[in-house]
Parts: sequence; C-alpha cells; structure tokens
Amino acid sequence: MSQSLDIRPIAGALGVEIGGVDLSRDLPDGTIAEIRRALLDHLVIFFRDQDITPDQHLAFARRFGETVEYPLVKGLEGYPEITTIVKLEHEKLNFGGLWHADTTYLEEPPMGAILVARELPPCGGDTLFANMVMAHEALSEGMKNLLAPLKGVSVSNLPKVTQTRQARMEEGAKTAPDSVLTATHPVVYTHPDTGRKILYVNGAHTCRFEGMSDEESAPLLEYLFEHQTRPEFTCRFRWEPGSIAFWDNRATQHNPVNDYHGHKRVMHRITLAGDRPS
Ligand code: SIN
Repeated sequence: MSQSLDIRPIAGALGVEIGGVDLSRDLPDGTIAEIRRALLDHLVIFFRDQDITPDQHLAFARRFGETVEYPLVKGLEGYPEITTIVKLEHEKLNFGGLWHADTTYLEEPPMGAILVARELPPCGGDTLFANMVMAHEALSEGMKNLLAPLKGVSVSNLPKVTQTRQARMEEGAKTAPDSVLTATHPVVYTHPDTGRKILYVNGAHTCRFEGMSDEESAPLLEYLFEHQTRPEFTCRFRWEPGSIAFWDNRATQHNPVNDYHGHKRVMHRITLAGDRPS
C-alpha cells in the first residue's frame, strides 16, 4: 500500500487532518484503504481545500460503503442521500445542535458521515467531536461491569433534539410529525472493525435503559452524558471553505457550536450504512 497521505493530529483525543489527496478524483484503492485506516485509528478525519461537487461527494462516499438517506427530512433536490444541514440568518437553533451520534434511533445506525462545508459564517460554527472509546476506557471497572449487560433505548423525538430540526421538518418532513423511531442498543458496543469497546449512549436520543423507566434511568444517563463529553475526550474543528469532515458515527459523538447568529451556515452531509450494534 502506498503511504501518500500527510496525516496530522489536531488534538490528543481524536481527529487528524489529512493532506496530499484530492477528493474530487477517482482515488486508487490503496489511497481509499489508507483513508479508511486513518478513520478507524483517529475516529474523525478532516480534509482542507477540497472543491467537490455533490456528484463527487457521493462518489467518494460510495468508496466506503452504501449511502443511506436521512429518515426524517428530504434530501437535496436530485440527491436524496445528501442532507442539507442549514441554519439561516434569522434562525436561533442549529440542526443537531447538541452532543449526539447520528440517528441511533435506527436499528442499524450509520457507520459514518461525510460533511462538506458549502457556506460558512465569517467566524464560529465549529464542530466538536468526542471519542467514545476513550470515554468507555476512563470509566472505573465497577462502572464498566454495571454497564456491560445494559441496553439503551434511543428515540427520535426527545424535545431537545426535535426543536433543532423543526425548521427543516417544516420545509421537507419525510415522516408524520407524531411518528417516533425507536431502537434498543447495547450501552457498551464492540466496534465491528477495531474490536474496541464504545460507550454507546448519547444525550440527544437515549431516553432510558431497557427494562427501566425514564426517571429511574435519568441519574446514571445524565452522569454518562456529562462524562462522555469531557474536554479531554474531544477535538474542535474550525471549518474553512473547502473543508470536509468524515466521522466514525459508531465511536464518536459530535456537537456543532451555535455561535454565529445572524449568519448563514450550509453543509452537505452523506451518511453511510452501518450494522446493528452488538
Ligand atoms: C450534524 O451532522 O449533526 C451537523 C454537524 C455540523 O453541522 O457541523
């Protein structure tokens, strides 16, 4: 395999910038394998100064797996698998503007997502990422043993996340307003490619432990939500025109910072099919 990529970490916990590659091109299999390796090793990878069309975005994504549509909001005209993540000048909430992994309320949540910056505010609108392998490793043995047999229930309609997508649902909902998607997954999930253990709950979608009420689950879930986004498990990506992020949705969470009121931010996201967590 060639070693052509220039890989530079951006933080101690996760995240590398990758140079020396033009994603608009039909890349050799060896380069795709190197990018996949970097994703598995570093959990989120970033590219700068790329100039790719929606078709090239799709072609690049398809080198890593099957692309899937976002279940709740219609995609870009002519490109149903491209979700437009937008905040307009007059809006106060940003889409997915809280710590989360994407769509864990699906039986088979995505393995990853590739986000392309299309229009950025003059400053702000960075995205934070957190490493869920590190979050699991840092727990005590007692807590790991307590969590090991538990399952978490994810739902699509928790109010704190529903309100962040409301404006986009008004423009192009794919589901009825009262429909709810639900899935149950292990709280500690073994990564299918690396074998590493992942703390697999998130504050946007996990509402309770299986077999327990929301109220009974809340104290431990709240502790885990706080724990898993400790600053030392995170990195922060500053977007520039031409920036692209590709995250492993199984082993990370992300949180787009909502600090650019009065300005527009437009991103294009493609998600890649994943397996049922086990
Ligand atoms: C998302 O995919 O949840 C949005 C990420 C972002 O806007 O930076």
